[in-house]
Amino acid sequence: MSPTRKLIIAIDGPAGSGKSTIAARLARKLGYINLESGAMYRALAFKAMAHNVALDDAEAVRQLAENTVIHLEAQGDGNRVLLDGRDVSQRIRQPDVTIAASRVSAHPAVRRVLVARQRELGANGGVVMEGRDIGTAVFPDADVKIFLDADPAVRAERRVLQNGDSSIGERQRVQAEIAARDQRDRTRVASPLVPAPDAVILDTTHRNIDEVVAEVEGVVRQRLDREA
Ligand code: DC
Repeated sequence: MSPTRKLIIAIDGPAGSGKSTIAARLARKLGYINLESGAMYRALAFKAMAHNVALDDAEAVRQLAENTVIHLEAQGDGNRVLLDGRDVSQRIRQPDVTIAASRVSAHPAVRRVLVARQRELGANGGVVMEGRDIGTAVFPDADVKIFLDADPAVRAERRVLQNGDSSIGERQRVQAEIAARDQRDRTRVASPLVPAPDAVILDTTHRNIDEVVAEVEGVVRQRLDREA
């Protein structure tokens, strides 16, 4: 392949499947940019909450999306997120925004606005983009498509460890949140969370991050070799 050709790599999967960490590490190894599309839905949801826009009002949220600038910057194992110039990286990880993001992302009109932005950001290749619909809707012609999944109880436990509060109450809250979000993301009409027919599906239930990164890197290297 031409040494200048840079791939588009799509990584999709549910919450806690490991996609953010794996996408960030893979991007670093390849020298690609890492774009976390979920952060865009989260930032928009936070803005809707802050402006008292009803999350179920598709047209109002769409208009808000049209008038919003969301900037993602690679940082460590994730993205720094700027909403209209303001750093909201921490705030958008809070439980209230997590639920709100799942709700605003169900509107087809809102998705159209953010998907168009995601396509612009990834158009030149050299990108690892992660989300729910990258391989099915944002970049259906992506060079590599990975779908990560894991047992829901294991995904919830990972989130609990990440959040640093492993009390029984918090554990139950996270399990319920993941179950509700899975249900909403997988059953919505617009771009539901499903693997693309040509995605490589990896179950990360019994694998640690290093093992999954190595496996995904293997898939990418094979793809690069095929073009060489
Ligand atoms: O990946 P995440 O948990 O940050 O995503 C937050 C919500 O955004 C998730 O519940 C579904 C939605 N989302 C989406 O619909 N499409 C994407 N490409 C990424 C996220």
